[in-house]
Amino acid sequence: MDTRDLIYYSTLAPSGHNTQPWKFSVQDNIIRIYPDFDRTLSVVDPDNHALYISLGCALENLVISAKEDGSACRVGVFPDDENEECLRVTLTDESPAKEKDLYEAIPVRQSNRSMYDEQKIPPADMEKLLQANEQDTVVVKTFDAQGKDVDPVIELVKEAGRIQFNDDRFVEELISWIRFNKKEVQNNRDGLSAKVMGFPNVPRWLGRFIMKTFVTADREAEKTEKQIRSSSHLFLFICKKNDKKHWVDAGRGFQRVALTAASLGIAHAHLNMPCEVESVRKKLSAHLDLHPDEQPVLLIRLGYASRAPRSPRRPPEEVRIDS
Ligand SMILES: Cc1cc2nc3c(=O)[nH]c(=O)nc-3n(C[C@H](O)[C@H](O)[C@H](O)COP(=O)(O)O)c2cc1C
Repeated sequence: MDTRDLIYYSTLAPSGHNTQPWKFSVQDNIIRIYPDFDRTLSVVDPDNHALYISLGCALENLVISAKEDGSACRVGVFPDDENEECLRVTLTDESPAKEKDLYEAIPVRQSNRSMYDEQKIPPADMEKLLQANEQDTVVVKTFDAQGKDVDPVIELVKEAGRIQFNDDRFVEELISWIRFNKKEVQNNRDGLSAKVMGFPNVPRWLGRFIMKTFVTADREAEKTEKQIRSSSHLFLFICKKNDKKHWVDAGRGFQRVALTAASLGIAHAHLNMPCEVESVRKKLSAHLDLHPDEQPVLLIRLGYASRAPRSPRRPPEEVRIDS
């Protein structure tokens, strides 16, 4: 595996609206991942927590891939001796313990927004999913998607979704990251493709019309509830502190859970709305009796479904800034 392969595997990480907010540089045995502030989501992610979570996901993919290639990694998260804020991965000669299942799951993992089949995840697999998060700075709380405890969480997901879809700025930002036809996908290799969104291939003007006319707050709320009920469990990722370092940790922890799920044939999708809308996030924290320092940052559903269409990625050459 050469450096290009390592970067390729790293970029298969998920990111909010598939913005791929990362840049890479390579210097000898050091790979640096930088935030790409030209790819922020100022409406849905004003504090950039989702951006840093995405960087954490890319970092975890890189570390798992390097291990598979025989290199243990020394990871620096925003090291002080760097000129620019970055995640620094130093490939070492030490023999690492490989994580073949996770490595093989990297190209298989995908966000799957379809309806699931209501099948429950067996307890032994639930245990594996929970153990996959190795970050002691990040707590994962689970909810049975068909149980009673999840009802207040569903209400908060719907409330936050309604706020977002009634906000023109949110809808405009979302539309700006939808690639409504094959040409837009080919030209950009990022964003949410029509296929992934379950739309037909249409010109941008028509896609915008569909989004503005048919994707309403009420319809989305109704669909979200059905999607949750079709799932097995919800996993909520809570940072013990609300800062960049913890957001990167949350990305690393979440990515290992998502890869473990993929390796077990379990699908996942994000329902981050109650973590994104501040007023609802406060209600969620109060409902769960969280410590004031703690911050819920990601909510996903897990369960079983057929595979979904794949999301595009920019090739390594486009995300390297040193070549
Ligand atoms: C931090 C973060 C936030 C995300 N938020 C959402 C979300 O609110 N809704 C959603 O449907 N997907 C969300 N996603 C999933 C991305 O849209 C998805 O990862 C991206 O489109 C790439 O697709 P893939 O995961 O299938 O590779 C999020 C992913 C990350 C890492």
